[in-house]
Amino acid sequence: MIDLDRCRQLDADDPLAGFRDRFAAPEAGTIFLDANSVGAMPRDVPARAARMLELWVEQRRRGWTVSDWLEKPSLLGASIAHLIGARPDDVIVTDNTSVNLFKLLSLALRLRPERKVVLTEPGNFPTDLFIAQGLARYLGNAVEVRAIDDREALLDAIGADTAVVYLSHVDYRTSWRWDMAEVCRRARAAGALTLWDVSHAAGAIDVDLEGSGADLAVGCTYKYLCGGPGSPSLLWIRQEHQDREWPTIAGWMGHADLFAFASEYEPAPGIMRQLTGTPAVIADELMAGAFDIWREVPIADLVAKHRSLSETLKTLLEQECGDLGVAIDSPADYERQGGHIAFRHEHGGPVSEALLAAGVVGSFRKPGVVRFGLGPLYLSHEDCWIAAQRLKKILETETWRDTKYQKVSV
Ligand SMILES: Cc1ncc(COP(=O)(O)O)c(C=O)c1O
Repeated sequence: MIDLDRCRQLDADDPLAGFRDRFAAPEAGTIFLDANSVGAMPRDVPARAARMLELWVEQRRRGWTVSDWLEKPSLLGASIAHLIGARPDDVIVTDNTSVNLFKLLSLALRLRPERKVVLTEPGNFPTDLFIAQGLARYLGNAVEVRAIDDREALLDAIGADTAVVYLSHVDYRTSWRWDMAEVCRRARAAGALTLWDVSHAAGAIDVDLEGSGADLAVGCTYKYLCGGPGSPSLLWIRQEHQDREWPTIAGWMGHADLFAFASEYEPAPGIMRQLTGTPAVIADELMAGAFDIWREVPIADLVAKHRSLSETLKTLLEQECGDLGVAIDSPADYERQGGHIAFRHEHGGPVSEALLAAGVVGSFRKPGVVRFGLGPLYLSHEDCWIAAQRLKKILETETWRDTKYQKVSV
């Protein structure tokens, strides 16, 4: 049983509470539970944007040399390395997640040329599946994308023909979390690589790429990492693989001597060869607002806060709304849960719309799943209490039946 006093006590004991003020406050009364989609904006982003525009006017092409525009992909990567269990030199921020998936999946196939199977699950995020299918087609179907629904069967299917086990760490619908270390252990034992999409994990839960024995990873930065809508994606490669192959997209930013303007490609050492073309300088500057904050956040505090918010919200949803048709869809065991909490309701779509109107911003996925994404740096336990109370009221009064809530947004 959790009450409002208990939520306030948990907030009073929260070592990360001070970070809330570093983010722009939403419109009074609105609670954003959509960190699994677009995270909050740090307060200093408008000033950064204004300064960036001044630099554009003042520096023009000199910006490439006098500003840190070209270093930003690696500086930004280093800022969040500790959140994903990576060495600072092994992460960059570049392109979008789909492009990075293509780059790393094709790299995996070249690192295991004698093996032809990409092992995944049909519930992987659509772009992850599509990139694999498109790549297989591009390769004249010399590669098979094998999607197995049953998770135990998927693990059992890892074998001598498996080039790469290709999974999202966290299921984007239910928030189910793979045991990354166990999957990596099984893959390694069979000589296969692993490629992880950590979009629904990074900045919320414990991700330990190095410690788990992962080989390759990508992830969105606009969700829990708060990089801003459409911010470039993170890309990580275990050090031992970085120099073994050319990047699939051998762009000039990944050349060993960028300003030599050579006519022959020579890959830059390490992770930097995965850069393609000109970085998205303005987007990078905006995302630096959050990434400067992340440098100050101890991973242990982040994980403890996320766990506490998750357990509080799950308990409240069951306690306050369980009798009103709400059933938690996410794993009961926190170790198996990702960044968000998903719950089912027979009329999830209209309920999600009614929640939006009541100032609780979650998201809906067919057939009846509502998702609440928990951003640990700016959400409080009291926010969870208020959200659960608003949901309860909507269900008790059945306001979701109103015709205006029947057209459901994503
Ligand atoms: C797991 C996952 N991967 C990838 C993407 C999309 O990546 P992008 O649009 O940056 O290519 C999403 C978007 O929500 C996602 O949830």
